[in-house]
Amino acid sequence: MYKFMKGSTHELASMEIAIKAIPDDPRVWVPQAPDVYFRPMFLNTLTGQWCNLLKVTRSGILSRHVHPAPVFGMVMKGKWHYFEHDWVAEEGSFVFEPPGEIHTLNVPEDCDEMITFFNISGCMVYLDKEDRQIGYEDVFTKIDMCRAHYDNVGLGADYVDQFIR
Ligand SMILES: [Fe+2]
Repeated sequence: MYKFMKGSTHELASMEIAIKAIPDDPRVWVPQAPDVYFRPMFLNTLTGQWCNLLKVTRSGILSRHVHPAPVFGMVMKGKWHYFEHDWVAEEGSFVFEPPGEIHTLNVPEDCDEMITFFNISGCMVYLDKEDRQIGYEDVFTKIDMCRAHYDNVGLGADYVDQFIR
């Protein structure tokens, strides 16, 4: 049995999460665009950070974006790249994206499905070709999307609560 300091937040609420990353129930994947889904795993409202799997079941440009905080990723299936770099992130690749860099994620033609784990802080700011903001996501918009989707598919809006801290 793990022991915590008396009165610590850890003692007051269950903080740990241990889940199967690729869920058995496909409804756990939240659609965020045509052929693009995310699987929430850790939605941290205390520091504005989240961990999720991103799944893309088509090739082509996903988004052009910037984030003001670091992003860490690990590719679990398939591959993708940024037009701004000459590397390709493939299954097993670790990726670090520095704050402030604008990049355009693309899934190559010979890849029909990619799944990548991302640990994101702050927000994703989506940009058009002229670097004008056309949207954003943060841990709160992610939670909202999860609630709406889980309610819609019968899991119940509060299904997302297990991932929120
Ligand atoms: Fe990025």
